[in-house]
Amino acid sequence: MDTKLSMSFLAEPNDANFSGNVHGGKVMKWIDEVGYALAVKYSKRYCVTKFVDDIEFLKPIEIGDLVKLDAEIIKFGNSSLRIKIDVFSIDLIKGKSKKNCECFIVFVALDKNGKKVNIKHPKKKDN
Ligand SMILES: CC(C)(COP(=O)(O)OP(=O)(O)OC[C@H]1O[C@@H](n2cnc3c(N)ncnc32)[C@H](O)[C@@H]1OP(=O)(O)O)[C@@H](O)C(=O)NCCC(=O)NCCS
Repeated sequence: MDTKLSMSFLAEPNDANFSGNVHGGKVMKWIDEVGYALAVKYSKRYCVTKFVDDIEFLKPIEIGDLVKLDAEIIKFGNSSLRIKIDVFSIDLIKGKSKKNCECFIVFVALDKNGKKVNIKHPKKKDN
């Protein structure tokens, strides 16, 4: 079952805020993207963001660091998936890794008319 997904890329200069570290809004965008990709991959449906909670920015991400987002489905609803996302950054020169952010995000699967639709869970017997 595809219940986990990771995404990695470099923090680029145009990701910076006024202090020179990665902008919090960028991190939120990446969180939404990795969550979306996992929700769609699992449900095989188009999904929308319904709810975001407990987002915590723990440490800043520096430009040039390798950013890694780990997403995992932690609750399997009827039309919804609750996903935990952890964000890490790695200083490639120093070889040091730190956890930057964590949050929870709920996606809802939609049908072609934009209405919520039940997800076919691979391991559920009642599907
Ligand atoms: C997604 C949408 C179609 C859902 O419609 P709805 O009929 O009002 O949905 P419901 O209130 O029944 O909730 C749908 C699911 O989300 C869950 N949910 C709703 N609010 C929630 C919350 N605050 N926290 C956690 N889960 C929540 C419900 O429990 C339900 O899950 P289930 O089907 O697994 O039991 C509608 O709210 C919508 O279009 N929202 C806008 C989405 C959007 O534009 N996102 C940003 C861009 S992607």
